[in-house]
Amino acid sequence: MSLLTLLATALVVSAAPVVEKRQAPSGVPDYVVKYAPVVYLFSGEAYFPADIGAQVTNTAPAINRTLVQNPPAVDLSNLDQLNNIPNSAHGANIYLTSNQDPTTSPRPQYLYGTKPDPTGKTPSAISCAIITVSHTNTTLDAFFFYFYAFNFGGVYFTLEVGDHIGDWEHNMVRFENGTPSQIWYSQHSGGQAFDYAATEKHDSVRPVTYSANGTHANYATPGTHDHTIPGVNLPAGPIEDHTDAGFLWDPTLSAYFYSFDPASSSFTPYGDAPAPGWLNFNGKWGDDKIPESDSRQDCTFGIDALCQYQAGPTGPKDKDLNRTNVCPDGKDCPVYPVLLPRSDVA
Ligand SMILES: *[C@@H]1O[C@H](CO)[C@@H](O)[C@H](O)[C@H]1NC(C)=O
Ligand SMILES: *[C@@H]1O[C@H](CO)[C@@H](O)[C@H](O)[C@H]1NC(C)=O
Ligand SMILES: *[C@@H]1O[C@H](CO)[C@@H](O)[C@H](O)[C@H]1NC(C)=O
Ligand SMILES: *[C@@H]1O[C@H](CO)[C@@H](O)[C@H](O)[C@H]1NC(C)=O
Repeated sequence: MSLLTLLATALVVSAAPVVEKRQAPSGVPDYVVKYAPVVYLFSGEAYFPADIGAQVTNTAPAINRTLVQNPPAVDLSNLDQLNNIPNSAHGANIYLTSNQDPTTSPRPQYLYGTKPDPTGKTPSAISCAIITVSHTNTTLDAFFFYFYAFNFGGVYFTLEVGDHIGDWEHNMVRFENGTPSQIWYSQHSGGQAFDYAATEKHDSVRPVTYSANGTHANYATPGTHDHTIPGVNLPAGPIEDHTDAGFLWDPTLSAYFYSFDPASSSFTPYGDAPAPGWLNFNGKWGDDKIPESDSRQDCTFGIDALCQYQAGPTGPKDKDLNRTNVCPDGKDCPVYPVLLPRSDVA
């Protein structure tokens, strides 16, 4: 995309409606909400942000695709009780498994999430967790975790690959002395980092993030983004993510707020957020992979990573909350001073 096109798009986007006044519970630094990202969902999106608690009420714990017998009654506040289930590897082997067949057409309603209203709010759905991590007196990281109940992977030739139930994505804004300095955009198993100053702004201060159709990978620019499936050498052709300024979602309008203390590895709620049992749950937020022997599964060329249905993901605590750089630890972390489409910087 040319610079002119980018600029033109930025101008159109900045004319978006003004969102309702945001409020953060007491104790959350004002700047965390002031500089919170605004998300643009794709105009053709079918799988909207979803209520985090509904993922618990619509599922039951299973291990190795077998339901756990007489599991404890759990909600968000005590979901970590599932970590105590015997032979679950402290919960790590547990998959929150849909009570209804998730592969039907249409799929069970809860998997489609909640479309934001004209103010950018997802009515009756709390689909975001904002987690602050203070590193020093002067550096604070604010994580914005976005939850979607279903990830539509993409189309490879004519076949769908990489669908899964439960989808956690995030931005992280690093603040120095209350001033935003850098921002991370999660994209599949990686992502991109930019100087805050480089990002497109909504209402002149809030960075814009474009959520890709179906996969919900976060990009700093609209358009088409190539991505390959991690760890797979594709026999041919890219799989593309598509982003545009389809629906404005302001994740701060319905979010739970927490702080995370790396030294004690503990979460503390701000305001009336539920107790953090769900953040301490070690398991997965969606069904396990459907076996290849199951007629509902379809694996392109018989390649494992190219199956239509993949396993659900772990939650926010697996996303390097105590990271050194703005990128997750263990990744090269170029922080770009200008916006470039991913294909130009990868
Ligand atoms: C967007 O995702 C839907 C599935 O939710 C898919 O049917 C549609 O083709 C996708 N659109 C584009 C432009 O990729
Ligand atoms: C999972 O179930 C399959 C089929 O019943 C079995 O072969 C396999 O050993 C089980 N795996 C574990 C880790 O229990
Ligand atoms: C640390 O924070 C306190 C309270 O906000 C402030 O008074 C102090 O100057 C800060 N110290 C440094 C080194 O920034
Ligand atoms: C958090 O990260 C810092 C900086 O990398 C490191 O010094 C510290 O040991 C980490 N804390 C924990 C509890 O891992």
